[in-house]
Amino acid sequence: MTRQAVRWAMLVVASWMLGVGSTAAQVATQGNQGIGDPYFPLMGNGGYDVEHYTIEMTVDVAKNLVDATATIEARATQDLAAFALDFTGPSISRVDVDGKAAKQDRSGGELTVTPTSPLGRGADFTVLVAYAGPPGRGEGPFGGGWTAEPDEIFVFGEPAGPETWYPANAHPADKATYTLRITVPKPYEVASIGTLQRTTDNGDSRTFVWETRDPVAGYLIPLHIAELDEATAEGPAGLPIRNYFARAIPATDRASFDRLPEMIDYFDSVFGPYPFEAYGATVVDQALGAALETQTLSTHGRDATAEFIVAHELVHQWFGNSVGLERWQDIWLNEGFATYGEWLWTEHSRGVSDRDEQIRRWYALLAARDRLHDRAALEEMNARELVDLVLDAFPGLISEEDALKALGVRAKAELEDRPAAEALEQLDLPPPALQPVTIGDPGPDGLFRGAVYGRGGLTLHALRLRLGDDLFFQTLRTYTERYRHSTVTTEDFIAVAEQTSGQDLDAFFDAWLYQTALPPIPEVGLEVER
Ligand code: ARG
Ligand code: ZN
Repeated sequence: MTRQAVRWAMLVVASWMLGVGSTAAQVATQGNQGIGDPYFPLMGNGGYDVEHYTIEMTVDVAKNLVDATATIEARATQDLAAFALDFTGPSISRVDVDGKAAKQDRSGGELTVTPTSPLGRGADFTVLVAYAGPPGRGEGPFGGGWTAEPDEIFVFGEPAGPETWYPANAHPADKATYTLRITVPKPYEVASIGTLQRTTDNGDSRTFVWETRDPVAGYLIPLHIAELDEATAEGPAGLPIRNYFARAIPATDRASFDRLPEMIDYFDSVFGPYPFEAYGATVVDQALGAALETQTLSTHGRDATAEFIVAHELVHQWFGNSVGLERWQDIWLNEGFATYGEWLWTEHSRGVSDRDEQIRRWYALLAARDRLHDRAALEEMNARELVDLVLDAFPGLISEEDALKALGVRAKAELEDRPAAEALEQLDLPPPALQPVTIGDPGPDGLFRGAVYGRGGLTLHALRLRLGDDLFFQTLRTYTERYRHSTVTTEDFIAVAEQTSGQDLDAFFDAWLYQTALPPIPEVGLEVER
C-alpha cells in the first residue's frame, strides 16, 4: 500500500462523509499513466498497488535474449476500466487478467491493459504478461537498467531501470515483494535479492530461485548473471552475508567487503537494527564509476570497491531502501544520509579528527562553488582568483593548463587585472557546474549532483552539532523504526527531528535544504567567506 493510496483513500472517505461528489455510481476509468511524481510524470502508474511480482525468465546470455512470464498480484485503488504498466521490454505474446485474455496496447514505454470487465476499487487481481526477445535499453541520468556485456548481464539504474526487463509499477512509492526464477546456461550463475531458495540443475542450464520477504522498489532489484565467485560471512545475530564477484575481479578489489560484518555491527548501533534478511555485494566486471545500493545485495562497478563506497551502499539499506522515497525530489534523504554514513564510518574506524578533515574538505569544496554562484563575490574578484576558485570548486573538471589556454594567457600572473565575470564566461564550463542547487528540490537532472551528497551530509552534521549526539542518534533511530519498509518525504524526517528534540527546526532545514547559500556551521567555525 502506498502512502499516496492511503491519502486517496482518506480523501474518498472524507468526500463521502461530506456528501461531496455525485450520487450516481462511479464510472470506472483508466488508471493514470504515472503515479504522480512531478519530476517524472510517466514513472509508475496510478489506480493500483502491486503486492508481489513473480518473474520467471530464461536468459540467453550470449544473444542477450529473454523469454519470460511476469505475474503481478495487485489491488485496485479505484474502479479501473484499464490500467498501465511501465515496460520497454520485448514483444508481448499474451496478457491475462485473472486468467482471462486482456487487451494490450503499447506506446511510449507504457503498456496499457484493458481487462474484459472493469476491476472494482479494492479488488485483488492478477496480471500475467508473457514476452520474449531483447530487453529494453533504458536511458536516464545514471544507468539504463538491463545491461548486457559479453559473458555478463546485470541490472543497474536509478531512478529508472526495472521497466527494461519486466512490466512494473516502476516508482519507489509502490514497493512490493518478489520471487525471481531465472534460468541461465551453464556455467553462469545468478545473484539477486533476498534469499536463494533453491538451484535446480536442468542439464545444460540451471534455475536460480531468489525471493525477498521484505518489500522493495523496482530500481533496487539486484540481478547479476555471470561466472561468479561467492564469499560468505556472518553479521550480527547470524545475519547471512554473501558477496559475489565476477571471476576477473582481483583479490585487492575484494578486500573492502571483508569489513562488512564490522560495518553492520557499527551501523546497527547508530541507526537501529539492519532492516533485511541478508546483505552482501556483487561486483560486476565493468567500470561503472559508481555503485548502486540494490536491496540486500549492492551492485558495485569493478572501479567502485573502495571502503567508503562499501560503507555508503550499506548505509542506503537503512536510508533509501527500508526507508524509501515517496517522491524523487527528496533524494537527499538517500544520498545525504549515505554520505553522512561514510563520515560516521571514518569517525568509528579512524577517529574524529579524520572525520573532521573529511567534513572540512567537503565544506571547502561547496563553499568554493557557493562563491562562484555569488554574483556580488564575482564582481570583487579578478580572473586569477577566479581560476584558483574554479580549480578548488571542481577538482578534475578542468586543468590549470587548459584554463590558462582558454583565457589566452601563459601565466596566472597575467590574469591579475582582468575581471572574473568575463573570464568565467570564457572558461565555458559545463552549465550544470554553474547552477546552484537547492538540495531539497534539485530537479530531475540534479538528483546526483555533488551537493545532494555533500551538502546533504553536512546538513546532518550541522543537525547533530545543534541537537547533541543523544538527540541526533535518537532521531535517526526513531526515523528508521517508524518508517521501516515504508516511504517518506522530507517533512516526515523534519517532524521526527522536531518531535525528538522539542525544537522548532523549520528555519534550520529551510536554510540547508531549500536555499542555495551554504549556511555556516558555527559550532566548528565553518563558514563561507563573503
Ligand atoms: N544511489 C547511487 C549511489 O550509491 C547513485 C550513484 C550515482 N552515480 C553517478 N555516477 N551518477 O550513490
Ligand atoms: Zn548513494
